[in-house]
Amino acid sequence: EVWNPSGKYRVISTKAMPGTRWIRLLTDQDCRVEICTSKKTILSVEDILALIGEKCDGVIGQLTEDWGEALFSALSRAGGKAFSNMAVGYNNVDVNAANKYGVAVGNTPGVLTETTAELAASLSVAASRRIVEADEFMRAGLYDGWLPHLFVGNLLKGQTVGVIGAGRIGSAYARMMIEGFKMNLIYYDLYQATRLEKFVTAYGEFLKANGEQPVTWKRAGSMEEVLREGDVISLHPILDKTTYHLINKERLSIMKKEAILVNCSRGPVVDEVALVEHLKENPMFRVGLDVFEDEPYMKPGLADMKNAIVVPHIASASKWTREGMATLAALNVLGKIKGYPVWSNPNN
Ligand code: DGY
Repeated sequence: EVWNPSGKYRVISTKAMPGTRWIRLLTDQDCRVEICTSKKTILSVEDILALIGEKCDGVIGQLTEDWGEALFSALSRAGGKAFSNMAVGYNNVDVNAANKYGVAVGNTPGVLTETTAELAASLSVAASRRIVEADEFMRAGLYDGWLPHLFVGNLLKGQTVGVIGAGRIGSAYARMMIEGFKMNLIYYDLYQATRLEKFVTAYGEFLKANGEQPVTWKRAGSMEEVLREGDVISLHPILDKTTYHLINKERLSIMKKEAILVNCSRGPVVDEVALVEHLKENPMFRVGLDVFEDEPYMKPGLADMKNAIVVPHIASASKWTREGMATLAALNVLGKIKGYPVWSNPNN
């Protein structure tokens, strides 16, 4: 699909993206926009090399693609100056290789903060109240009347929410769980989440002034402290060498037997084989997973676990957010091509 065929700058999007604002932004600035219409969900390096061709000024790509040496050298040879992931995460991008070939890299933070946090909160509640299991039970025609012990879950109020990685998304998630469900907070991050701390303090004072039990917060000195004390724990780190298999067999073993673990960050942050074993051995332990180690696949056994809720990497999937991500990705590429500032560059 081609927009503004006579445009001076050739910009490729490896996927059709929601909305038209991002296309207009580029075509209004003399770009010819080419959108790949391949039926393949995941494009290989070879597929993308063929798209780049002889002349290409910039590419908007996806987190499923392997943006390394091969693609950045080809893009640079084709005269390309800019690449933007349509994602905030950029573990699929070799930023050093991009730097080596003089290609600027962009990502799309901000617009997906609340949307992603909302999914993490939804998974937390769904796991805690066993919503998916209960839905399956109803549809299977098994409900034959109200019972005192039917699908009894946990009350979130007064429990502790644990956040590992209290950046933009982790902090937004924490606020939702604290204000929405009156949970106490324990968080672990290399940086102090000052605004989040202030929020919990102020909200705690508000509750107290209204005669309610105030919420509390604690910045943990170690990740283990969060794992030991959290009732619902949500993971929000970036994926790099230091966070690969951050949650492993040993760390799972120190979590509460009835804890809930939520992952909307990146699959390899959790050792999924160890997780499946842990779910088998601890039927009251529950997980809500948006991401998987070998997407689009799940490790053997995970799909059979009643104590796991699994969804296909949809944390940022709201219409507003996806259109925003497309727009920021276009702005990133356009910025570099036209010499405006790149809207968001993980290098900076
Ligand atoms: C991201 O942006 O990194 C998400 O995984 C997809 O929105």
